[in-house]
Amino acid sequence: MKTYVLITGCSSGIGKHCALRLREEGYHVIATARQLEDVISLKEEGFVAFQLDLNSSESIQTTLEQILEHTQGNIDILFNNGAYGQPGAVEDLTRDVLKAQFECNFFGTVELTNEVIKIMRQQGKGRIVMNSSVLGFVAMKYRGAYNASKYALEGITDTYRLELKGSGVDMVLIEPGPIESQFRKNALNAFKQNINIEQSAHKLSYTAVLDRLGNEAPKSGDFTLPPEAVYKALKQALESPKPKARYYVTLPTYLFGFLKRVLPTRWLDSILSRSSG
Ligand SMILES: NC(=O)c1ccc[n+]([C@@H]2O[C@H](COP(=O)([O-])OP(=O)(O)OC[C@H]3O[C@@H](n4cnc5c(N)ncnc54)[C@H](OP(=O)(O)O)[C@@H]3O)[C@@H](O)[C@H]2O)c1
Repeated sequence: MKTYVLITGCSSGIGKHCALRLREEGYHVIATARQLEDVISLKEEGFVAFQLDLNSSESIQTTLEQILEHTQGNIDILFNNGAYGQPGAVEDLTRDVLKAQFECNFFGTVELTNEVIKIMRQQGKGRIVMNSSVLGFVAMKYRGAYNASKYALEGITDTYRLELKGSGVDMVLIEPGPIESQFRKNALNAFKQNINIEQSAHKLSYTAVLDRLGNEAPKSGDFTLPPEAVYKALKQALESPKPKARYYVTLPTYLFGFLKRVLPTRWLDSILSRSSG
């Protein structure tokens, strides 16, 4: 029996790595990517690949139909991975920029999930893994749009878990800290494109944001880990008979998870403020 795994955002980073590793393990991976050229590359690498843009309901509906044709109506696992980070102080976010962040990271992800739940309910089983973030439960300066989208994802996943109890469909959150990927590069593009740096009250602090995002992706060390770290958590989430609600990945996630439980908010704020870069 094939185990079908549908993954969003497979053009790079965590999605691409997990697609490769799950395929090695014998899963039948359906890799999706937002842009056609990435779908072509994935196909050249031997993947069953489809174009899926989370910003578009039409793309979600049409692609899912094509995928179900390929899988004879089955999806065993959904890994909701595709997302991006929109940097910038909250007061510099226009309504449209904030909406765009939610279109991808939240509304598109939830729309796809709801469609897949219909299939999993018919199957009587399934597992859905949300790639959230440490920034899904602690806030940092200049990450407000991303913070809000991942907090929203965490909130709705907690609700899903309650509503799906007894259905055979498990909902799991993975909460990575810094991981080597294209995330910073893509965030830098979104920052330059959508934030009026010159007119901002945060203009001076933005120099540090530009430096941080413009630097080479940090190399693996104590704080930043390669995508394999997320893959290990994903594998546990998929293969455990009773998966945990949340899987922490990286030291910062463990650290902030602990500090959030024990510190008063103002104390935590002061640490987060200094860690925001
Ligand atoms: N890297 C980190 O430090 C880190 C930490 C915590 C959580 N995460 C989470 O990990 C996940 C993967 O990110 P990553 O680190 O692997 O970054 P990445 O290399 O930038 O990969 C992000 C993927 O999401 C895709 N994506 C963006 N907008 C999309 C849309 N509208 N529809 C479909 N796919 C879209 C990107 O496609 P394009 O190439 O076409 O843009 C790319 O394939 C995200 O959910 C992110 O929030 C990352």
